Amino acid sequence: ETMEHGAMEGMEGHMDHDNVTPLQASEGTQELVIPPLLDKQTDSDFEYEVVAQEGTTQFFDGSITKTYGYNGNLLGPTVRLKEGETVKVKVRNELNEPTTFHWHGLEVPGSEDGGPHDEIKPGESKVVTLKANQPAATLWYHPHAHKKTSEQVFKGLAGMLYVEGADQDSAGLPTSYGLDDIPLIFQDRIFDKNLQLNYDELMNSDGTIGDVSLVNGTVNPKLTVTQPVMRFRILNGANARNYTLRLSNGASFTQIASDGGLLEEPVKTDEITLSASERSEILIDFSEMDSNETVAITDEEGTILLPFDLAFEGEATRKSVESWTSDEPFLTEKEKDLPISKQIELFGMMDMVTINGKKFDPERIDLRQKKGVPEVWEIYNKPDNMGGMIHPFHIHGTQFKIISRDGKEPAPNEQGLKDSVLIEPGERVKLLVTFPEEGTYMYHCHILEHEDNGMMGQVEVY
Ligand code: C2O
Ligand code: CU
Ligand code: CU
Repeated sequence: ETMEHGAMEGMEGHMDHDNVTPLQASEGTQELVIPPLLDKQTDSDFEYEVVAQEGTTQFFDGSITKTYGYNGNLLGPTVRLKEGETVKVKVRNELNEPTTFHWHGLEVPGSEDGGPHDEIKPGESKVVTLKANQPAATLWYHPHAHKKTSEQVFKGLAGMLYVEGADQDSAGLPTSYGLDDIPLIFQDRIFDKNLQLNYDELMNSDGTIGDVSLVNGTVNPKLTVTQPVMRFRILNGANARNYTLRLSNGASFTQIASDGGLLEEPVKTDEITLSASERSEILIDFSEMDSNETVAITDEEGTILLPFDLAFEGEATRKSVESWTSDEPFLTEKEKDLPISKQIELFGMMDMVTINGKKFDPERIDLRQKKGVPEVWEIYNKPDNMGGMIHPFHIHGTQFKIISRDGKEPAPNEQGLKDSVLIEPGERVKLLVTFPEEGTYMYHCHILEHEDNGMMGQVEVY
């Protein structure tokens, strides 16, 4: 009986959560933190150093939360690579557990990709060579340690990785980092009653959904907008949740880029949906908005995630951004007609998740594909008798194109390079996948708990 009672108490503890909401913990808003840019080293044999370390963060007034960060207490500095550039990056693990350094979206050889085979032990380091051999894009980096990705990301390991290139400059897009070109990392977290990020894998085997919203690690943020046209590079950095982002005043904005770079042409819209790990670049034109009205980015429920303080400096001087259209079709007829050569079936929930009926085995190669040769992958999200759930599907080492969703052409804002794709229950999505480099790459569900629970496979590119 005692044991039962003990178990009950434990349950109750979970049921009423003992968690706090940001309103209880903190009053008022704080200016959004902009991650620093990572400086290039000139006096060593590597250009950048990225260190995974422990730290503390003051999310709420008067309390200290233990966190993880790269080169700091929380999240990481923004790393910028020039299109075509090759850099050496020293990665160092100062944590008390193994980790890896994965460059999500960067088309690097498998040996540099930082997947689960590439574990770096505490106190150790290595130098990786990153070649930005792809168009300008907003990518990111995060750990990929075997069965530990979700917890390490939850505690704060994630950073932005930009590839910068000529095509974005020629369109006249805003490029002043932190001024009119702003990274926004949306995440949700759970804090316990001691305001700690206690990670509970068992309670959250379908993905940790938090009740506290963070943008760039800031609780209750606000952004002071001083330029009439702002570019936001948005990352869904959550472990699991999807975001549908809108403006609180209903105004439309322009999506200019998907995961892997500029869209075929800019798309005017009033909402974007991002599943975990997807990115989107948008332009918001604030010049017609009244500085007395409240303008904010909200989620699908209308919850304010990021309010803006409009404080333009002087006249709206910025010339408007050039539109563009690509002269080549997004996909050629030949590409659209390629037969399916790889079939992926996503199934299950919680810790019963599988791909093609199997769980991840680091010793097993599931698929093989020839370098440089495009193939059609069909991803099927097989529903269960409860309906099933969305899985965001991601492939390492490639930027692919979506050929179709259930036989239909993808929406204009998905006509661009992608490395992650939201797949609804029951949906079949065809992808045109080309790997420009060789090596072993992961493909997986980017609900990080699903990944850790084995919803992952390996493709060997030869
Ligand atoms: Cu964001 Cu396996 O990666
Ligand atoms: Cu990745
Ligand atoms: Cu999943």
